[in-house]
Amino acid sequence: MARFQFIFTFIPILITIITLTTNPRVLCLDSEPDSFSIIDYDSNLIFHQDYSPPAPPPPPPHPPSASCTDDLGGIGSIDTVCQIVADVNLTRDVYIEGKGDFNIHPGVRFHCPNFGCSITINISGNFNISVNSSIVTGTFELVANNASFFNGSVVNTTGLAGDPPPQTSGTPQGLEGAGGGHGGRGACCLLDKEKLPEDIWGGDAYSWSSLQDPWSYGSKGGSTSKEVDYGGAGGGRVKMKVKEYLVVDGAILADGGCGGVKGGGGSGGSILLKAYKM
Ligand SMILES: *[C@@H]1O[C@H](CO)[C@@H](O)[C@H](O)[C@H]1NC(C)=O
Ligand SMILES: *[C@@H]1O[C@H](CO)[C@@H](O)[C@H](O)[C@H]1NC(C)=O
Ligand SMILES: *[C@@H]1O[C@H](CO)[C@@H](O)[C@H](O)[C@H]1NC(C)=O
Ligand SMILES: *[C@@H]1O[C@H](CO)[C@@H](O)[C@H](O)[C@H]1NC(C)=O
Ligand SMILES: *[C@@H]1O[C@H](CO)[C@@H](O)[C@H](O)[C@H]1NC(C)=O
Ligand SMILES: *[C@@H]1O[C@H](CO)[C@@H](O)[C@H](O)[C@H]1NC(C)=O
Ligand SMILES: *[C@@H]1O[C@H](CO)[C@@H](O)[C@H](O)[C@H]1NC(C)=O
Repeated sequence: MARFQFIFTFIPILITIITLTTNPRVLCLDSEPDSFSIIDYDSNLIFHQDYSPPAPPPPPPHPPSASCTDDLGGIGSIDTVCQIVADVNLTRDVYIEGKGDFNIHPGVRFHCPNFGCSITINISGNFNISVNSSIVTGTFELVANNASFFNGSVVNTTGLAGDPPPQTSGTPQGLEGAGGGHGGRGACCLLDKEKLPEDIWGGDAYSWSSLQDPWSYGSKGGSTSKEVDYGGAGGGRVKMKVKEYLVVDGAILADGGCGGVKGGGGSGGSILLKAYKM
């Protein structure tokens, strides 16, 4: 009896496997006819074990757009031209959406220097940030027609990560002051001569499966003290989708924070740039 049950369950599985080997498209959901990606299929259809990372939750609906004059102290309107002429010190997330251009004038600081703070600019016109200006935040996201980053400008998300994804923290466990992990494991920091380098690793890798569409913060480095957290913070995230021309004469940074002599460095975050021409 037991053997029959085995055979009856075994045969459909075998058929499934044969179908898969002969026709991998069976796995595709609604993707374009000629592309097959191992990360595109719904593993629950066939496999009983879930090898894929959990699907990210749908993004929350956007808050209403900030206003150029009232919220950002600028001149004009986001549906025509918004000019940021003086420093903006933000303390919480800001979402900017409109049909016009957005210009940050020379030497202006457009900052939200809190861990995980997010600045999103979503405009149908052009974006430009002039010489010596800076954007400092945890997450910077830009959607624009053209975008220019002039000489000496910087988008700096260094060491301003928010929380890493929930499946693992990427932060090293021990008190060796090892480095934070991200797409790979963090660096070891071998102080104990009795141990092999393989025994002391930095933080876990956690975003290997999303490297094609990177959108993860870096993670913290380890500390050498139980009481004080000396680890460097993780790097932030930058994403830009530019319809026509993206010109970068400045710097775009998502480095991990420095741990100093008593802590490990944080891991870098993510930068994703897409444009018709760069
Ligand atoms: C913004 O912060 C800087 C220092 O970080 C300060 O010099 C400047 O006056 C502030 N600007 C505003 C508008 O609060
Ligand atoms: C950039 O913005 C300035 C105003 O801040 C404007 O005069 C200039 O034409 C813009 N440059 C480009 C290339 O869009
Ligand atoms: C930009 O705005 C459009 C139109 O409102 C919206 O569909 C899109 O999701 C927005 N993108 C981002 C990154 O906020
Ligand atoms: C930008 O900064 C550089 C170096 O600090 C300085 O030489 C230059 O005059 C600045 N340019 C403007 C337009 O502020
Ligand atoms: C975008 O930039 C290109 C190259 O500078 C320019 O030819 C084009 O007119 C710009 N598009 C808009 C809508 O400003
Ligand atoms: C860019 O700025 C740096 C110093 O901030 C200066 O040395 C360099 O000549 C500038 N390049 C251009 C093309 O203006
Ligand atoms: C970027 O930010 C980090 C951390 O605040 C700072 O150490 C670094 O000097 C900044 N880089 C630039 C080019 O502004």
